[in-house]
Amino acid sequence: AAAGNAAAGQAASAACAACHGADGNSMAPTFPRLAGQVPEYIQKQLHNFKTHDRNDPDAGIMFGMAAPLDEAAIANLAAYFASQAPTKNPMPADAALVAKGKNIYNGGVAERNIPACAACHGPAGKGLAPLFPRLAGQHGMYVTNQLKYFKAGQRANDPAMMMRGVAKNMTDEEMQAVAAYLQSL
Ligand code: HEM
Ligand code: HEM
Repeated sequence: AAAGNAAAGQAASAACAACHGADGNSMAPTFPRLAGQVPEYIQKQLHNFKTHDRNDPDAGIMFGMAAPLDEAAIANLAAYFASQAPTKNPMPADAALVAKGKNIYNGGVAERNIPACAACHGPAGKGLAPLFPRLAGQHGMYVTNQLKYFKAGQRANDPAMMMRGVAKNMTDEEMQAVAAYLQSL
């Protein structure tokens, strides 16, 4: 995927601001934060919304947004949001859940074959280009929802079924814990 032009992306991003925030630091927990996201990952998701390969229960709102975007627009929007500085998530996270989630994030749960998230998403949750998205500061509710969708097979756009394999053995409580930890980063 070619690198885009962030200035051109900023002009086009007015169409996204109502939900994702002008700088990608969305406030509402159902709209994912895009600031500082891995640009190749943003491009991939926009392609997946265009083709409906990402068709989890909340994806429909993005089908219409992605439909008119051509390759240049996708690359420019990705470059813009990726270049924005992520702010700390203002929503409070439960301290006990955060502590439990930190253990899962860094060490997984060996007895049930849940791998450490840090192996793919990076030790500080900042993502690893080009495949692995940033999770640090993401809304806990959004993260929990996506993990449930991966587990149920409703989100099936993960390469090599990586996230479906990770989420399939996770309990709701483990999902909420790791989501609380990520929101607190
Ligand atoms: C998800 C980009 C406009 C609502 C996403 C994702 C991207 C994106 C890259 C995936 C994020 C991730 O996987 O972490 C954009 C761009 C827009 C735009 C570039 C403008 C062209 C909007 C608008 C709304 C919206 C206007 C609200 C009306 C959502 C929702 C999701 C999402 C609800 C989660 C979808 C799901 O869970 O499948 N958007 N967006 N977006 N966006 Fe947008
Ligand atoms: C995507 C969480 C472990 C590879 C995601 C997403 C979440 C997540 C919430 C969606 C991000 C978004 O929509 O913005 C976690 C958690 C993990 C974990 C909590 C540990 C329990 C792993 C591991 C791998 C991995 C070990 C590699 C083997 C990926 C990939 C994607 C992804 C490739 C992108 C999927 C796509 O392109 O749509 N992860 N992850 N994750 N994760 Fe993980």
